[in-house]
Amino acid sequence: MASFDFDLHTAATAPAVGPPRDWKWYLHPDAETMSRTVAARLADELRSKRNSLICLATGSSPQRAYELLVAHSRAEPDLYDQARWLKLDEWGGLAIDDPASCEHFLRRHLLTPLAVSPERYFGWESQPADPAAECGRVAAWLAQHGPIDVQVLGLGKNGHLGFNEPTSQLQSGPHVANLSPSSLSHSMLLQSKGRVAYGLTLGMDDILRARQILLLVSGPQKAPQLRQLVTGRISPLFPASLLRCHRAVSVYCDAAAAALIPEGVLQSSCSSSRHNG
Ligand code: GLP
Repeated sequence: MASFDFDLHTAATAPAVGPPRDWKWYLHPDAETMSRTVAARLADELRSKRNSLICLATGSSPQRAYELLVAHSRAEPDLYDQARWLKLDEWGGLAIDDPASCEHFLRRHLLTPLAVSPERYFGWESQPADPAAECGRVAAWLAQHGPIDVQVLGLGKNGHLGFNEPTSQLQSGPHVANLSPSSLSHSMLLQSKGRVAYGLTLGMDDILRARQILLLVSGPQKAPQLRQLVTGRISPLFPASLLRCHRAVSVYCDAAAAALIPEGVLQSSCSSSRHNG
């Protein structure tokens, strides 16, 4: 089994207040400039490794960055020839082409405009006859083609990552998730034509094996969660807190999301970069 950058020593000695010192912070005035920086970072990752495996979250956090990456691809189309893309999670029970499916989101905002060929994209089925077997299929693919080079994440309202929901015991590897009421009220589902029965997601261990993690957080509605991530301890009740065990996390946030982080915490605890445009 591949080792992953999860360091129990780091976990045990992580400060109770303040972000891990190895994290990189990119604070932006708004979501648009944040998205621009993320798109530029993804292009940079592909420049340094053309066949990077990039695992994609869906939702409002990364949508604009994906659109800007597509816009960028027009100027440098060759850069995307060898990239490999992986879908982080999916709403189990929705048709794959449901307007709310993660598949539909990725195809619309990234895969179709980038003309990604089928062999360079791998994703969950959304209505598998046997969900456990589908998890096995995804696990086998990841064992063969992983680890993930770049993991793009949004921060759930309840602290989830992918569909790793708050719980006393996290499940490892690709798994079927019982979705929380908070996840089932996600705005993506407003346009759904079907009924979500469960979530399908990579596990926190899969995420923590990624070489680089990009966490995108924007808007005032995410401010309490970002504060919790920065000031709280590691707990499966707030799955994003497990990111504290990973050294190569880059947090891209806007001013509204960072508004509740106590004064001085970022400046004193980590290398913080400010981008104003
Ligand atoms: C959903 C998705 C996740 C996403 C998260 C945050 O549950 N399955 O992949 O990261 O919610 O979504 P948003 O960025 O819209 O807040």
